[in-house]
Amino acid sequence: MNLNSGALAMLLPFLCCCCFFFSVPTLFAQSFDTNASSTGAAARALDALLQDYAYRAFVRPKTGVPYDGAVPSNLTGIQIAAMRLRSGSLRTRGVNMYREFRIPTGVLEQPYVERLVLVYQNLGNWSLRYYSLPNYTYLAPILGLLAYDASDLSAKNLPELDLRASGDPIRINFSDVESAPIGSVPKCVRFDLHGSVIFSNLTAPNECSTIRQGHFSIVTESVPPPSPPPEREGKESSNRRTWIIVGSVVGGVALLAFLGFLILWGRKCKQRKKMQEMEKAADVGEALHMTSVGDTKAPSATATRTQPTLENEYVP
Ligand SMILES: *[C@@H]1O[C@H](CO)[C@@H](O)[C@H](O)[C@H]1NC(C)=O
Ligand SMILES: *[C@@H]1O[C@H](CO)[C@@H](O)[C@H](O)[C@H]1NC(C)=O
Ligand SMILES: *[C@@H]1O[C@H](CO)[C@@H](O)[C@H](O)[C@H]1NC(C)=O
Ligand SMILES: *[C@@H]1O[C@H](CO)[C@@H](O)[C@H](O)[C@H]1NC(C)=O
Ligand SMILES: *[C@@H]1O[C@H](CO)[C@@H](O)[C@H](O)[C@H]1NC(C)=O
Ligand SMILES: *[C@@H]1O[C@H](CO)[C@@H](O)[C@H](O)[C@H]1NC(C)=O
Repeated sequence: MNLNSGALAMLLPFLCCCCFFFSVPTLFAQSFDTNASSTGAAARALDALLQDYAYRAFVRPKTGVPYDGAVPSNLTGIQIAAMRLRSGSLRTRGVNMYREFRIPTGVLEQPYVERLVLVYQNLGNWSLRYYSLPNYTYLAPILGLLAYDASDLSAKNLPELDLRASGDPIRINFSDVESAPIGSVPKCVRFDLHGSVIFSNLTAPNECSTIRQGHFSIVTESVPPPSPPPEREGKESSNRRTWIIVGSVVGGVALLAFLGFLILWGRKCKQRKKMQEMEKAADVGEALHMTSVGDTKAPSATATRTQPTLENEYVP
């Protein structure tokens, strides 16, 4: 029998075992990537959809009057409104109160249009879905204020106008604000249309201010979890740990079994070699009778010689 092929046959399953269990963690790591970058695109698509639905609220609209829009049923919970304004009127008179927004005089749009529409959004319970903000907790729903050209009230996918307050800032008086946990400081957050997040201090209780359009809310920093488990740890992660433990145990047992086998194998080889040497000696020297000692055959001489015995008769 060939030792090399025997050892290989024994090693192969063991190696396969090792490969499998070392690859498990990598497999899991790849399948739990987050897709945070997609949220910005989803939010922009929502803006386009809400512009369309807000414009549908206009039926012979009066200038300077807000109209509530209806959202599609798959977005129940979002409130929208639209108000048409003359650009000159916006600049010289502002809008005293448009839902939560107080728009001062001196607000200009870029590029210039004669009439514009201010679309209001309250994302309600959809805020987190479209504007997830790791490590922060929302104390108020996301409110949006976006400006569009009013020349075609059936237009879709309109680009936003760039709205800018040249004098006083636009103020946002949030109405349903949860109180911040004791010891934490609430902050204003603004998401601009390019995906940037800008934090600032509140300007009054429940009030934020801005000189640009965008999406706004009040947040507080989340209290980090007390124990080591990092955020987003869940079923998958503990699952993964179980796999690693099971893998280690099985791998360890396989390794032990393999080592045990190697030791046995080594002993057997040694024994066989000894036997061969003794047989060779028998061929060369005087004829020896073969007798049985235990399970194995051993050369034996005539009665005048001492009977040979194997050193270790209790070989397992
Ligand atoms: C990835 O995005 C999809 C939809 O855009 C969302 O349903 C899913 O929860 C997101 N996955 C993660 C891990 O954020
Ligand atoms: C909601 O429904 C509208 C039309 O019914 C569709 O255009 C839009 O893609 C849907 N939005 C989501 C987020 O499912
Ligand atoms: C928000 O609430 C409405 C019911 O008021 C529900 O139909 C909708 O699925 C909720 N949205 C989310 C993102 O949970
Ligand atoms: C959230 O907080 C953790 C720990 O404080 C930090 O490692 C991680 O980068 C933060 N995430 C973001 C998006 O800032
Ligand atoms: C903000 O709104 C609340 C009611 O929602 C009102 O009582 C309060 O006076 C408003 N604050 C300002 C500065 O307009
Ligand atoms: C916000 O307020 C804190 C004190 O409450 C102050 O230390 C900090 O400088 C302010 N930040 C800004 C940007 O005004």
